[in-house]
Amino acid sequence: MTLDKKLWGGRFTGTADPSFAKFNSSFAFDRRLFDADIRASIAHCHALRGAGVLTEAEAEQIVVGLQSALDEATSRADYFDEAAEDIHSFVEARLVAMIGEAGRKLHTGRSRNDQVATDLRLWLRDAIDQLSARLKQTQEAFLDLADTETETVLPGYTHLQRAQPILFAHWCLAYFEMLARDRERLAEVRKRVNVLPLGSAAIAGTSFPIDREAVARELGFDSVSRNSIDAVSDRDFCVEFTGACSLIMVHLSRLSEEIILYATAEFGFFELSDAVATGSSLMPQKKNPDSMELVRGKAGRVFGDLTALLTTLKGLPLAYNKDMQEDKEAVFDAFDTTAGSLEVSAIVLQNLSLNRERMLTAASKGMMNATELADYLVRKGVPFREAHETVGKAVLKAIENCVELGELPLDDLRALGNIENDVFECLTLEQTLGTKSQVGGTAPARVAEALANARRLL
Ligand code: ARG
Repeated sequence: MTLDKKLWGGRFTGTADPSFAKFNSSFAFDRRLFDADIRASIAHCHALRGAGVLTEAEAEQIVVGLQSALDEATSRADYFDEAAEDIHSFVEARLVAMIGEAGRKLHTGRSRNDQVATDLRLWLRDAIDQLSARLKQTQEAFLDLADTETETVLPGYTHLQRAQPILFAHWCLAYFEMLARDRERLAEVRKRVNVLPLGSAAIAGTSFPIDREAVARELGFDSVSRNSIDAVSDRDFCVEFTGACSLIMVHLSRLSEEIILYATAEFGFFELSDAVATGSSLMPQKKNPDSMELVRGKAGRVFGDLTALLTTLKGLPLAYNKDMQEDKEAVFDAFDTTAGSLEVSAIVLQNLSLNRERMLTAASKGMMNATELADYLVRKGVPFREAHETVGKAVLKAIENCVELGELPLDDLRALGNIENDVFECLTLEQTLGTKSQVGGTAPARVAEALANARRLL
């Protein structure tokens, strides 16, 4: 079968240069819209029947034809091995080849401009649901990890300098929150994606009395677009989607960076499973965290997709311009990359080993209880600013003696201020963690509560 008959040949006497035809074609990538194109075409066919453009018999023929195209595509591996201009001309050509004359009526009252916008929105709706499910899986991986490590502690860092000890589960829940917002963001984007452009035709709308609300209902759209020019010319929903993907990648990239760092011999907190690490072709001892490095690296790719979309759109006059054909690869790539990164991150988390002793030792050292000592003085009536100063001096003393604050002799501490024997109790790791008991804090009781809440939320 030959599919390269153009949809627009009438006013042309010459043929396209083969290099240009290849350059112009989007079929290599927009074939991913095949299912969406068929679904939207069936709904449009029903609308044309309702508008009296098609007879019952013609509509029936078209729907059967489109459905069998769908079946054939799933059963035949070489179905798409054709030279077509784009997915829309491909589907129409298939239909006409199958059912003849009636197929040539399907494009009444629509343009590829509203068609492609509709297909892309249908595709994205599905993609958003898939991403949201993957986000949920990754959130679950964090909760499972937190559940098995309720006692494990970790040094908390600011400026990558030891700051205050935290529960490892608290760290897990921090990522849980980021991913929860990512899901909310996707749900927001989905609302704006779920609007039907079909019926806008090329730019001005259609003269055929098609029932757009019925088409929207059939395709599961929440509403119909209110302006035909806008409906065919904006791709803000693609930008929003890629933006939401970018933030997911920011979160995964920070996670990757932490896991990579904590898996070094210098930190030695984590070890990645063999299932998600690789070796070196030269250095036999190496175990490299390639999985997380790739996730970190792929974040840049998704930001590139976002930048590409923004840049493509910024100078375009209304309404449709062929520049917009460039939207799909960015959207597809952002989706593939983000979905893959979420999947691999969940696997890394599900198989992560922790070196609890090292984490405990690290969390107990470095005078991360200095703030506790200041708070102790505050409870004895010392203004915080003064307490800070006093503890600073104690820290200097401890550094001089190469000891932790809790190892300073009581007399040395007494010399600094109103400090009694009960100070040692307050400097323990248990106390340092346990006192952070306000909502959102790292006290074990709070974290247990937050973990239970997070489970309920999922
Ligand atoms: N392949 C085109 C795209 O992806 C479909 C729309 C073409 N419309 C047009 N008027 N040439 O944007």
